[in-house]
Amino acid sequence: MNVTRHVAETRAALAGLPRPLGFVPTMGALHDGHLALVAAARTSCATVVASLFVNPTQFGAGEDLGSYRRDEARDLELYEQAGVGVVFAPAAAELYPSGFATAVHVRGLTEHFEGAARPDHFGGVALVVTKLLNIVRPDTAFFGQKDAQQMAVVHRLARDLDLPVEIVAVPTVREPDGLALSSRNAYLTADERAVAPVLYRALLAGASAASRPGATGRDAVAAAALLLLGRAGSSRPSFSIDYLAAVDAGTFAQTDTLGPRTLLIAAARLGKTRLLDNISLSPSAYPGGDATA
Ligand code: PAJ
Repeated sequence: MNVTRHVAETRAALAGLPRPLGFVPTMGALHDGHLALVAAARTSCATVVASLFVNPTQFGAGEDLGSYRRDEARDLELYEQAGVGVVFAPAAAELYPSGFATAVHVRGLTEHFEGAARPDHFGGVALVVTKLLNIVRPDTAFFGQKDAQQMAVVHRLARDLDLPVEIVAVPTVREPDGLALSSRNAYLTADERAVAPVLYRALLAGASAASRPGATGRDAVAAAALLLLGRAGSSRPSFSIDYLAAVDAGTFAQTDTLGPRTLLIAAARLGKTRLLDNISLSPSAYPGGDATA
């Protein structure tokens, strides 16, 4: 496995490698969710390129940029075992040299939900993903359905900027109890970890409500909220909901009419940890569409 640090070096390393070339961008702290993206890339691509870059522009003031788990040796080993051919692991100054002045702003869809909670986040994501796609020039790039709004942003910018890449969504990888894998799960206390799977159970309850004849987005939200807030008053840690909504997967506009592109999305806090998850409300996607670790 070849590890590159610079843009020109990366382009030179990729020239002549067998195509199709699949690309998996991550910020490291790798878990089985990230490795599922690599596995998906390997099934359809002759060469898999990954990146390892904790992108400073997508963290807001007071977020966990400084404390984000960095263990490059471990991550490189996991990438190598998973069959990655080239890892691009630049320093921040390589991607953002002094004088850097360009922004990539995806209007509309970045303003709700995660975008409202984290105002600069999607600007940073859109910028770094555009740069990485332009450096690596893959045929296919793989992103997790876990971060559904990020997925929508990446789809939109690839289409709007005519990037010659196919964007593939990989189903969310979960713990056996349903909790979506995330590097932030490590912040949960033991009590919070025990309660955390209720988030996915609430989404399943929402999807089940949505599958009834004549059901609306509001029915799905109500069923999920009932389960999520049902523990209030008990001595166990309880969720506080940042948002819980039925939305169109492409635009993230809220919708009451259920269709093949409708998602039930949630962000909820347990103590200091903010958990994100989503489920398809498409009748054809329920109850499947997710993988368990
Ligand atoms: P990161 O949080 O490291 O995630 C990298 C990729 O792994 C993303 O596409 C994310 O959706 C996917 N992923 C995370 N948890 C997953 C799970 N449980 N199942 C399946 N896929 C999962 O997302 C980012 O980094 C950054 O914003 C990035 C796109 C790399 C740009 O900096």
